[in-house]
Amino acid sequence: MNLKQMVGIESAKYVKDGMIVGLGTGSTAYYMVEEIGRRMKEEGLHITGVTTSKATEEQALGLGIPLKSIDEVSHVDLTIDGADEISADFQGTKGGGAALLFEKIVASYSKEVIWIVDESKMVNLLGKFPLPVEVIPYGSEQLLKKFNNKQYNGKIRLQEDGTPLLTDSNNYIIDLHLEAIENPQELATWLDHQVGVVEHGLFLNIVNRVIIGTSSEGVKTIEVTR
Ligand code: 5RP
Repeated sequence: MNLKQMVGIESAKYVKDGMIVGLGTGSTAYYMVEEIGRRMKEEGLHITGVTTSKATEEQALGLGIPLKSIDEVSHVDLTIDGADEISADFQGTKGGGAALLFEKIVASYSKEVIWIVDESKMVNLLGKFPLPVEVIPYGSEQLLKKFNNKQYNGKIRLQEDGTPLLTDSNNYIIDLHLEAIENPQELATWLDHQVGVVEHGLFLNIVNRVIIGTSSEGVKTIEVTR
């Protein structure tokens, strides 16, 4: 079993009967969704899923998981998702799979958030992994210039055919190749104030529990207290 599968399966243990569960996106979250599907089939677990991308929606529907949109539920009990990087103080970046907007919306309405990662995602300082910023296409070249005037080394994410990748909301992603984010809160606040930025991949003060897959010690679970 690979590390992503180990944490995916472990995280599904936190899902209890009757819960409304935010279902994350990516290659790690994939295993969590599969495990929830298995538990529903084999253990009679009942949940309602709130998906964070079209890809996860397709997977969940294929497994027979009943779904509602974030606007159809009163709350979300628990969201389980992957992450691109998690710093020593449990701040994170997300959006490598271009699903950061729905991921942040669903997480922000969740009573509890669990991130599932392999050990390669645990870092001292965020920023080696490019930070995704979702922007509306109109004015995106201007934003790109603005970012690059600040030496943020932004690049519009492209598809294989060289055209800009479109998110599930038909926006673009500008990846900021920052190498190190010394002050995530300051950067998040600045990005929050730029016209045309829909959302960014800094997920600050959001996670409650981190489940890490390690090759030496197996699964490690950390409760995050703030
Ligand atoms: C998608 C995400 C993913 O959760 C993140 O990129 C981690 O993905 P993976 O588990 O495939 O490494 O934020 O937008």
